[in-house]
Amino acid sequence: MTRTLITNGTVVSATGAIAHDVLVEDEKVVALLAPGTQGITADTTVDATGTYVVPGGIDAHTHMELPFGGTFSSDTFETGTRAAAYGGTTTIIDFAVQTAGNDVRESLDTWYGKAEGECAVDYAFHMIIGGVDDASLKLMGDLVAEGITSFKLFMAYPGVFYSDDGQILRAMQRAAELGALISMHAENGIAIDVLAEQAAARGETAPIHHGITRPARLEGEATHRAIQLALVAGAPVYFVHLSSSEALAEVVRARAEGHNVFAETCPQYLYLTLEDHLGAPGEDGFEGAKYVCSSPLRSKHEHHHRDLWRGLRTNDLAIVATDHCPFCFKDQKELGRDDFRLIPNGIGGVEHRMDLVYQGVVTGELSLARWVETCATTPARMFGMYPKKGVIAPGSDADIVLYDPQARTTISAATHHMAMDYSAYEGFEIAGGVRTVMSRGTVVVDRGQYLGTKGHGRFVPRGLSSYLR
Ligand code: URP
Ligand code: ZN
Ligand code: ZN
Ligand code: ZN
Repeated sequence: MTRTLITNGTVVSATGAIAHDVLVEDEKVVALLAPGTQGITADTTVDATGTYVVPGGIDAHTHMELPFGGTFSSDTFETGTRAAAYGGTTTIIDFAVQTAGNDVRESLDTWYGKAEGECAVDYAFHMIIGGVDDASLKLMGDLVAEGITSFKLFMAYPGVFYSDDGQILRAMQRAAELGALISMHAENGIAIDVLAEQAAARGETAPIHHGITRPARLEGEATHRAIQLALVAGAPVYFVHLSSSEALAEVVRARAEGHNVFAETCPQYLYLTLEDHLGAPGEDGFEGAKYVCSSPLRSKHEHHHRDLWRGLRTNDLAIVATDHCPFCFKDQKELGRDDFRLIPNGIGGVEHRMDLVYQGVVTGELSLARWVETCATTPARMFGMYPKKGVIAPGSDADIVLYDPQARTTISAATHHMAMDYSAYEGFEIAGGVRTVMSRGTVVVDRGQYLGTKGHGRFVPRGLSSYLR
C-alpha cells in the first residue's frame, strides 16, 4: 500500500472551499483531515500550499479519432488523453459511433479497440445512435448493462447521423424504459441543408457561411421540439454543445416547469464569435475554417455569451464540456477551401477547459465552487460516475488537481499538447494554471512535466444518472 498526503491546500468542492489535508491510499482518497493533523504517516507528502485542491476534471464530450467528412479528428486516444491530463482533466467521456446500416455492438467494439491500452487518464463512452431501428433500440439495453448509459441522437447532419422525429421519439421511449439519458444535437438539419445549398449556389462558400446558414433560431426550434418529444416519451433529455440564447431560453422554460431537461455549453461558445473568429479572413481568406463547428459560433451583436454565463450561474447550463473534435488546418480544414460544407466540423480544446472556465472565476462570472461543479461534479452525477469521480471524498478515486491561482500562461499551438497545428484560443492569457495532476493516486503531470503512461487510463463503466429529479 502506498500512502500520499496532500498538505496545506484548499480543497474545493461543489459546495465551497475548505482548508484540508487529503490522505490517499493507492488509488483512493481515504480521508480529509483538519490541517496539521498529527500522527499521519505517508510515503509521499505533496505540499499544496497556495493551491486549490480540486477533483480531476471530467470532460463529458470528446471525439478522439472521429470519422467526419472524409477524414478523422486528429487526436488519438493516446494524444488526446495526454493533452487532457495536462489540462487537469482526468476523465473523458468519448462518443462511440454507430451509423445507419451498421451494428451497434460492432461499432462499440471498434471504440473499445481504439481506446484500450492507449489512454493516459480514465475514459467512458456515450453511444451515438446514427441509425435508430429495431436492432439498435434493442441493443441499447445491452449497452446500459455494460456501463454505457447515455445515447446521442442528431437532429442535424441528414444522411450521416440524422434521426427524424419518429426515430427520436422511439429512442426516447426506449431510454425512458431503461433509465438511460438521451443526449441531443439540437439543430434543424433539414432546414440548414436548404440554407447551405442556397448559399453555395449564390457563391457564398467562405467559412462564415457555415454559421450564417445555421441560425440560432434553428437551434432554438430543434431544442423546443426535442423537449416536447422527451416529455411525450417521459424521458430526460440533455442538450450537448448548446450555443445560443434561443436554445437556452427553451431549456430555461422547461426547467422552470420542473422537467428533467439539462444542457451543457462549451468554452468556444463562451469566448469566440461568428464575426471575429468564424468570419476572420486571415492571410489567405480561409482563417475562419479553424472555427467551423456545430452548433456554430454565434454573433457578437447579440447576447449569447452573456446569456450562457448566466445560464452557468443559474444551473440552466449544468456542465461545461469541450466537444473536443480537432482537425488540422493544413490538410483537414483545407478540404473545404472552396465550399464551407466540406470543412470538417470541430474545434479542439480538451486541454484548456479547466483554465478557460476558471477565467470565469477570475472575472466574477462564477464562484470557485461552481467552477468545480460544472467541470467535474455535475458531469460525474449526470453521467453515473458519482461519487467514484467528481468529488474528493473518502472512497472516491484519487483524481486530484492542484490548481495554482497565481500561475500565468498563454495558450498557443506552439506549446499545447493536442495533435493539431493551430489553437482556437491562440494568445489567450490565462490567470491560474494546473500544477499537479493525479489520476487514481498516480501523479501524471507535475509542473508541466508529463509523468504518466499510456495505458494507465481505464474504461469506466457508468451507472444511471443520479442527477434526475
Ligand atoms: O462540430 C462538431 N461539434 N463536431 C463534432 C460532432 C458533433 O456534432 O458533436
Ligand atoms: Zn453534435
Ligand atoms: Zn438574452
Ligand atoms: Zn460533439
